[in-house]
Amino acid sequence: MSENLTENMSENLYGMKRTAYCATFTENDIGRRVTVMGWVQKYRNLGGVLFVDLRDRSGILQLTFHSERNTELFEKASQIRNEYVIAATGVIAARGPKDINKNMVTGKIEVLCDELRILSKSETPPIYVDDRANTNEAARLKYRYLDLRRPEMQQALYMRHRIVQSAREFLNQNDFLEIETPILTKSTPEGARDYLVPSRVNPGTYYALPQSPQIYKQLLMVSGFDRYYQIARCFRDEDLRADRQPEFTQIDIEMSFVNTEDIMEVNERLIAKIFKDILNIEIPRPLPRMTYQEAMERFGSDKPNIGFGMELVNVSDIAAACDFKVFRSAVENGGSVRLINAKGCADKYSRKEIDALGEFVKTFNAKGLAWLAVGEDQHKSSFAKFLKPEETDAFIRKAQGEPGDLLFFIADSDNTVFDALGNLRLEVARKIGILEDIKDRFNLLWVTEFPLLEYDEEEKRYVAKHHPFTSPMDEDLHLLDTDPLKVRAKAYDLVLNGTELGGGSIRIHRTEMQNKMFELLGFSQEEAENRFGFLLEAFKYGTPPHGGIAFGLDRLVMLLTGRKSIRDVIAFPKVQNASCLMSGAPSKVDQKQLDELKIRNVE
Ligand code: AMO
Ligand code: AMP
Repeated sequence: MSENLTENMSENLYGMKRTAYCATFTENDIGRRVTVMGWVQKYRNLGGVLFVDLRDRSGILQLTFHSERNTELFEKASQIRNEYVIAATGVIAARGPKDINKNMVTGKIEVLCDELRILSKSETPPIYVDDRANTNEAARLKYRYLDLRRPEMQQALYMRHRIVQSAREFLNQNDFLEIETPILTKSTPEGARDYLVPSRVNPGTYYALPQSPQIYKQLLMVSGFDRYYQIARCFRDEDLRADRQPEFTQIDIEMSFVNTEDIMEVNERLIAKIFKDILNIEIPRPLPRMTYQEAMERFGSDKPNIGFGMELVNVSDIAAACDFKVFRSAVENGGSVRLINAKGCADKYSRKEIDALGEFVKTFNAKGLAWLAVGEDQHKSSFAKFLKPEETDAFIRKAQGEPGDLLFFIADSDNTVFDALGNLRLEVARKIGILEDIKDRFNLLWVTEFPLLEYDEEEKRYVAKHHPFTSPMDEDLHLLDTDPLKVRAKAYDLVLNGTELGGGSIRIHRTEMQNKMFELLGFSQEEAENRFGFLLEAFKYGTPPHGGIAFGLDRLVMLLTGRKSIRDVIAFPKVQNASCLMSGAPSKVDQKQLDELKIRNVE
């Protein structure tokens, strides 16, 4: 932080001029006359002497007022209360040996004040501005401007700023152009619900807020910009979670004349620079890669946390031949039986807790959870009566089970088994403290070869797994007509400790292939024309092969600063029901506004 603020600070406030931020002064400044400005963190009036902890964004500095030196000034200083904004001038002095505070950066010095201005008073603040205060989140969000005064929040937003600067620096140096794209747009295809904005000038029509700049950045490639980036706001009307907000920020990137390898290489360097700049950590490159198929088989997730084992074990061969109908029929119906081995957990889980896990896996559509506690010579399980001892032994052997281990089994379609066991694996890891132990280690990996399509059971049609502009892998083109679900895409995600940090793909750049894709997705010619006509039209006039990626900036900042929710790294976030507790948005509007928009209010 700059020492001397004379260049960028206000010239003169009520005759006083700020010298520097509070926490930038050291013992070297003893004897120096300084002016500081900020908020009162706390004050102690000991009768003849008054101590004030003054806070600004750099930290805290102690001010001292002595009544015997200046009674009038002391009287004035005695009016100071928490969160008052003040300006004070005085001479920096060494604290007496008893008064040294080792926990404070400026703990060895204080300012002996001879001038004071109260710049603004504060009512008693509704939340205590202190990192140690255990204020509930709703109150913090309602008074966010006070919450943001806390060092922890100041630090989070400062880190966010530095991460963005680091990314910008890298991208600028590597020939990327920063270009803004519209916020009032036509519906984009990321698969979430759009936020719509009614048009006053064209009643009955709507803009959509962009779910991402996807189409625009592709058009910029058609325009020849070759390398684009944007710190882009995205809007998605979807159910919120700890790592999802209705509006969030992407580091959005697109490149021309590149293949998958080129894009991964540049972006690995980008991420490595951010880790180096922010945490001084060297990321070993190239980053590990795993295909989607392998990620699902081993971890039950396309964003695997590879920081610990407890991998899924396929026991379908044993299950197919056993007498337990639940297991056998799952395999007969084309599904599988898989397990995880919770090492040493047999006595860590009560029956009630295992039942709770049974309910937990049901939220991922599993029909049940079978378990087996490995003993010295006698085992306990939820399906003992259905299995022969040698079948039980076969399961234990395949799971490399030892006495004290707890095995969890799920029998179902592959997709359900993966989803339920993958989530159970994380739940068990959370309970036994593994996730906490490994949170400071950064495991980055690429997940590649995603399926191009998924089947939407509700809508009874194929949907794009990434988005409809993603290119199929050349090796799989012949399957497009015969077995579309087997077609893999030139798509990749970057995963950090089990969180999807970013995702992208090589795009389709030929009109015929794009039309084919729309056809597979069940768009009629007319629908495709209606929604993406301008892109299809653009593709007719010379389109370079291109591809890109977008990183979730909020998630990146959350993980690099060790926060649990992206709310903690966004200045003014929204809560679960997508409302803002501070401003009250969304809110009712005037009838006049609705009339202008020709919108009738349905109560
Ligand atoms: P995708 O939809 O995968 O790709 O988004 C990219 C990254 O954005 C982050 N993200 C979110 N962060 C917070 N809240 C949300 N609701 C949210 N949704 C997504 C994730 C995710 O990895 N246009 C493509 C990118 C491309 O193909 O180039 C896209 O948006 O970290
Ligand atoms: P039941 O036959 O209902 O007594 O179930 C025996 C055990 O199998 C119980 O522990 C159930 O939770 C479990 N179970 C039932 N369905 C499944 C399934 N699809 N996968 C794994 N375990 C299951």
